[in-house]
Order: sequence, then structure tokens, then C-alpha cells
Amino acid sequence: MIPDPAPTLRQLLAFYMDAGVDCALAEDPVNRMLDDAPEPATASEAAEPRRSVRPALQTQPSVELPRTAPPTPDAAIVSAREAAATAQTLEALRDLMQRFDGCALRGTAKQLVFADGNPQAKLMLVGEAPGRDEDIEGLPFVGRSGKLLDLMLAAIGLDRSKVYIANVIPWRPPGNRTPTPQETQICLPFIKRQIELVNPDLLVTLGNPSTQALLGTRDGIMRTRGRWFDYDTGLRTIRALPTLHPAYLLRQPTYKRLAWQDLRAIATALAAISA
Ligand code: URA
Repeated sequence: MIPDPAPTLRQLLAFYMDAGVDCALAEDPVNRMLDDAPEPATASEAAEPRRSVRPALQTQPSVELPRTAPPTPDAAIVSAREAAATAQTLEALRDLMQRFDGCALRGTAKQLVFADGNPQAKLMLVGEAPGRDEDIEGLPFVGRSGKLLDLMLAAIGLDRSKVYIANVIPWRPPGNRTPTPQETQICLPFIKRQIELVNPDLLVTLGNPSTQALLGTRDGIMRTRGRWFDYDTGLRTIRALPTLHPAYLLRQPTYKRLAWQDLRAIATALAAISA
């Protein structure tokens, strides 16, 4: 039932924004209540127009990726694993991720959010997935939680020139929804290869999703945070510390004292490495 008076366009847009609907998936609206409504675009169809606006990528002399999305999530995971293993440098990894069309998120995100910071850094931080600001800028942690992350790093004398930052999922999920387990599994080979190539001495997982995805934990973040884990890259073991996600700290500032304990543990571990 349409309320009386009917909402204005501005009110409707505000409603959509509040509900997390802040990006258009197609030029024209589709009435899916009609019997002959067109099928929703598949990941590859959604991704297809983007390929044509990235002519530079077509000239990259790297691995041949499938032209259409793999038919099943399992095939997409295998395809991601095989592609990631071929990347010998971070640049090559970024290139092949930009062309990978096995993850539907690529079709709805504005761009790939690969990383920020110093690839030579001893400390690598991994978050969950880009949000709206990151999608616009193409860099991880540039929104409100990113500003808090910068303050947290500054508290132990670090900034983005001294750390490397990435996410488990490199494309923004529409409306900032939680990535599905399948999307996480498809993207996991890429972040694992990224960690292998950066080869940091310390890994910090920000929040529960990245902790569970990378460290294989099942407990919640309140149990895992502040505990050191071993992360095996296949080539060597890296010490890894889960901590609270800055977005969570913005909602629950009283837990900042726990994050501070974790930051001090990170600073101590870094000092021991440099000694
Ligand atoms: N939250 C994340 O997990 N990653 C980002 O890049 C931004 C917010």
C-alpha cells in the first residue's frame, strides 16, 4: 500500500540508501514480478561490459583466464587457485585478479581493491572486504574504519608506509552485505598468494571473518584476539595475531582497550624482529 501522501523521490532514495541499496546494477529497472522478466545477469554477463572499458588490461601478457564465469562455485575456486599460483609478482597477481570473472562481486563492484601500503613491510594487515569508500577510491580502509585503523597504527609509531594492507575479498559486496561463504572460498587463493608474495614477518587479521578465513579458527573473535597463531604460507610459517576490526571498535568503543593490548603485542613482536 502506498502511504498517503506518497513519498517524494528524495525520501525514496534516502530509504534505499538506509537499506544499503546504493549502487545500480543495470541501466534500466527490471520488474521481476512479471512472468517474462529477463533472467538476472550471470556473473560473466555482469562483468562483460567492464572488460570492454579496460582496454589496457587486454594487452597484459599474462596467464589465459577463462572468458566466461566457471559454471560452478567449485570450478571458480579451482580456477582462482590455479590462476593465483601462476602469479610471480604482486603486479601479476593484481592483473590476473582484475581479469578474473569467477566471482560475481566483480560485476557489481566499481573496481578491484587490491592493497595499500608498502609491499616490503614486515607487518601485513588483512580485513574482510571493501566498503563504499574503498570501492570508490580503489584502496582498502579509507573510510571511517580506515581512519581509526590509521590512528591505531599511529599509536605504535606506524603508518601506511610501514605496513601492507589488503582484504580477504577484493571487491565490495553490494550494499556492504556480508560476503557469502562461496565468495570467500573463491577469493581465498588470491589473498593467500598475496600474503605469500609480500612475505611479511607478522600477519594481523582484522575481525572475525578474516581470522576464520585465514587462520581456520572456529571460535569468535573475542576468544581468538590477542592469541598468536602460526600461518603457514607453504614456504614458511608466519606469526599471526587476530585483533578486533576497527568498524567493530567504532560501534563498541569500550573494547578499544583490548585492541590496545593487541597493538602493544604487535609493537613488541616487531621490535623483537628488528633487534
Ligand atoms: N572494512 C574492511 O574489512 N576492509 C576495508 O577495506 C574497509 C572496511
